[in-house]
Order: sequence, then structure tokens, then C-alpha cells
Amino acid sequence: MAAAQTIIVTGASSGIGRAIALHLSEQGHDVVGTSRGASGLERLDVTDETSCAALIERVLARTGRIDALVNNVGQAMLGAQEECSVDEVRALFEVNVFGAMRMTGAACQAQVRQGLGPRGSQARNSGPGAARRGGGVKGSRKPMRAEDNP
Ligand SMILES: NC(=O)c1ccc[n+]([C@@H]2O[C@H](COP(=O)([O-])OP(=O)(O)OC[C@H]3O[C@@H](n4cnc5c(N)ncnc54)[C@H](OP(=O)(O)O)[C@@H]3O)[C@@H](O)[C@H]2O)c1
Repeated sequence: MAAAQTIIVTGASSGIGRAIALHLSEQGHDVVGTSRGASGLERLDVTDETSCAALIERVLARTGRIDALVNNVGQAMLGAQEECSVDEVRALFEVNVFGAMRMTGAACQAQVRQGLGPRGSQARNSGPGAARRGGGVKGSRKPMRAEDNP
């Protein structure tokens, strides 16, 4: 097995995030799963910058390092364009797009402080209407790869 890593999995209380967290844990990694309120998980609301920064500091204080971040948190909105208000879609962007940006920024800053350089990568689905379905951040991987491999 590869060396155990400290990995944050956001939105680990259910669904895909829970499955990813359990799988990584079974592989021997030190997994930090998050939720807004589920017991046994680290508290995180990705719409709150202070919450994101506080999570990173708690993980660093406990483990001394952050090797990887899985930006799994996402909410979906189903319905035709004309049924969705701008405010509803804006709220979704706060979670699915800006939430992922907040966590990636905070984790990368921590990795730079560790001397690892920014190593994060984030992706969900993309394409038309992707943010409404829970994606819209895939494009951020390429610039980060370029940063990793100048
Ligand atoms: N399921 C699919 O078919 C599908 C397809 C394509 C993409 N995806 C994407 O895959 C990811 C996981 O999907 P899923 O179906 O497994 O979702 P899910 O079961 O609804 O889980 C979403 C997770 O996100 C957390 N969460 C929601 N809002 C949050 C917020 N503001 N701050 C922090 N945590 C928050 C929830 O935790 P708490 O409620 O405990 O806080 C929960 O753990 C999402 O990004 C989704 O868009 C899913």
C-alpha cells in the first residue's frame, strides 16, 4: 500500500462522499470527513469562509499535514430553466462553485505552508447547466496542474 495520507473528504455524511471516505479509510489513509451537522464528522459549511479556514486549521493542528482534498460537497437543483430563479441558482453556485473554491484555496495555502506547493485538484461534472446539477468546477483542474508542473 502507498504511504498513508491525510485526506479531507467534504460532504462525507451521505452518498458519494461517504463512499469515498469509507474506501480511502479502508485503504489505510487518515480521512477527515465533513458535514454541517452529522455526528462523528468534522463540522464544515462550504458557504462560510471562516468555517473552511477553521476546518483546515483543526486538521493541521491534529495531523500536521494535508495531502489531498476531495471537494465532494454539492447540491443539485432539478427543473427547467424557467422554473429556477436567479436567487436559487446563485445559492447553488455558493455551494457548488464558490464552496469548492474556498476549500481549494484554504487547502492549497496550507500545503504551501507545509512546503508541498499547491497540489490540490478539484472536479465534478461540467457542461451546460452543470452548476445546477452540482458541477461546474472541472475547468479549474488544468490551471492547477500547470501550477504543479511549471
Ligand atoms: N448522485 C449523483 O448522481 C451525482 C451525479 C453527478 C455529480 N454528483 C455530485 O457528486 C457529489 C455528491 O453527490 P451525492 O449524490 O453523494 O450528494 P448527497 O448524498 O446529497 O451528499 C451531499 C453532501 O454534501 C454535504 N453538503 C451539502 N451542502 C453543504 C454545505 N453547504 N456545506 C458543507 N457540506 C454540505 C452534505 O452534508 P450535510 O448535509 O451533512 O452537511 C452531504 O454530505 C455532489 O457534488 C454532486 O453534485 C452526484
